[in-house]
Amino acid sequence: MVIRDDIFYVGVNDHQLDLFEGLYDVPNGMAYNSYVIKDEKTAVMDSVDRNFGDEWIANIKAVLGGSAPDFLIVQHMEPDHSANIGRFAEEFPDAKIVGNAKTFTMMKRFFGTDFADRQVVVKDGETLSLGSHELKFVFAPMVHWPEVMMTYDSTAKVFFSADAFGKFGALDVEEDWACEARRYYFGIVGKYGAQVQALLKKAAALDIQTICPLHGPVLSENLDYYLNLYNTWSGYGVESEGLFIAYTSVYGNTKKAAELLKEKLEEKGCPKVAIADLAREDMAESVEDAFRYGKLVLATTTYNADIFPFMREFINDLTERGYQNRTIGIIENGTWAPMAAKIIKAKFEKSKNITFTETTVTVNSALDAASEAQIEALAEELTN
Ligand SMILES: [Fe+2]
Ligand SMILES: [Fe+2]
Repeated sequence: MVIRDDIFYVGVNDHQLDLFEGLYDVPNGMAYNSYVIKDEKTAVMDSVDRNFGDEWIANIKAVLGGSAPDFLIVQHMEPDHSANIGRFAEEFPDAKIVGNAKTFTMMKRFFGTDFADRQVVVKDGETLSLGSHELKFVFAPMVHWPEVMMTYDSTAKVFFSADAFGKFGALDVEEDWACEARRYYFGIVGKYGAQVQALLKKAAALDIQTICPLHGPVLSENLDYYLNLYNTWSGYGVESEGLFIAYTSVYGNTKKAAELLKEKLEEKGCPKVAIADLAREDMAESVEDAFRYGKLVLATTTYNADIFPFMREFINDLTERGYQNRTIGIIENGTWAPMAAKIIKAKFEKSKNITFTETTVTVNSALDAASEAQIEALAEELTN
């Protein structure tokens, strides 16, 4: 893939991976992007995951013909991008390795060496000239690791954005960008909204025509669409009108209550009601939906004097990612001592700007006239 006549794609597609970062399902695989900027001096942007060293080196050689690269620029030390730094160093013994002080500290921790005799240590805002291409390093700490730096090519107006603007999915599979970029964002970067906001401010000062992330497609059209989504996501704003119902159900009674609420909400004209069984559907998909909509309903049982495990994990996934600015309704179920609502509220105690609905639905084992009336009232409250 040619980005411009002097910038080339040399990344790889991974269809063998079961869980990205040991946690996330990637039904359409994953791409580890890497780029070559050809100029008087040649730079390679990041390496790829450990299983793809041969393919990556072959891609670089195919682009460079007989010549060797002068620099490997290391924007992020997470192993999906750094695993082949050693391989690169062996293959191209005269190339320098560009990073910041934190990059090299991590390199030593991962590989036992920080390539001391080949280092180029850069600071935030520093530039590196390749001839006609002028690269400026834009540090983006905690997006989503502390050493992360991004690179602005002011000649080509290309922004190499590390993991920002990345998504799940290999590049040889066609799929909607936002769906898998949102799941990636809230799964992996979501906790660091303030740091992403800081990055967006820095990016706004640059004339960017192309974004080259480390995962997912190169973005070159309608950049405002992607920047606006990132602004909404990192600002914990509401992206879509509607509501998300997340439930767990042991014998199907809580599920019935959740489905009845969905029906009532739709009757009352709620524009979109998403619903998920947390035990059976992808957790990261549910996390993404909780952040996408402004309203969330949690339906679960009391369990071991706490709440059902998948709900506990889900709430934990939300609160540790800074869940805020949302309205939450609760459907609790319990056969002898229902206490899920109280426990759920306590779990959001430290979250900012969470409003609980006045109505809480209490199901005692199975729906009855009283709990159905509460569901009606909750639906009313959530659509007003
Ligand atoms: Fe990463
Ligand atoms: Fe990554």
